[in-house]
Amino acid sequence: MNFIFLGPPGAGKGTLAARAVSFLKIPHISTGAIFRAAIGARSPLGLKVKAIIDAGKLVDDETTVALVQERLAAPDAQAGYILDGFPRTIPQAEALAGFSRVDKVINFDISDAGVLERLGGRRVCRGCGHNFHVTFDPPAQDGLCVHCGGEVYIRDDDKSEAVQKRLEVYRAQTAPLIGYYREKGLLYDIDASPGIESMLSDFKKLTGSGC
Ligand code: AP5
Ligand code: MG
Repeated sequence: MNFIFLGPPGAGKGTLAARAVSFLKIPHISTGAIFRAAIGARSPLGLKVKAIIDAGKLVDDETTVALVQERLAAPDAQAGYILDGFPRTIPQAEALAGFSRVDKVINFDISDAGVLERLGGRRVCRGCGHNFHVTFDPPAQDGLCVHCGGEVYIRDDDKSEAVQKRLEVYRAQTAPLIGYYREKGLLYDIDASPGIESMLSDFKKLTGSGC
């Protein structure tokens, strides 16, 4: 099954995807994570996108679509995938339709206040990429990841100016995808405001993966 996780920044897309792949046995493909890995490696792609991402803007459609098309052609994505953070514009959705089937689009519904609370407390592990939260899922006391011992850091785009920009960009360019996929009968709304266990249980009901 091919899933798209659609929602505002900080809605919990990455957190739910990390839990869901353990029973769905399909890859979690996050365009944001791919860009951050490229930035960390100082690759040509990383150098090209760093300033854009830190400012909370979108990377251009051409670059992003080419990256996703290549990733979805990999052997591990042939039995299904969770695409987290792509598509983010109507042109990206139209391009995706040209090279992959979409089965279910999960629309994460959360207030701006919920987003600000989550992004304000997010901490990310440089080693395994786990998304912690200082209140809801704290890392270890000494600031190291409880899972792999990696260094835990704050994303540059979680600074308040970038968060405001990301919310604006979401409303202007990404939210129209809700109507786009609803019209196609592919959209499934999920209340993203409760804790992760409750979201996981709702996701299993929505997707019929009741394990
Ligand atoms: P990306 O990495 O995709 O960022 P995003 O969409 O803004 O989403 P986030 O990763 O911030 O939030 P999330 O929903 O994954 O929340 P999380 O699970 O971490 O993209 C980054 C940038 O890359 C973009 O701004 C853009 O520049 C570029 N980019 C990426 N894709 C692109 C595309 N297609 N086109 C163009 N540019 C693109 O959770 C947040 C926090 O809340 C965590 O601390 C977590 O622990 C906590 N939390 C999560 N769920 C719960 C819960 N249920 N209860 C309590 N706490 C929770
Ligand atoms: Mg994420």
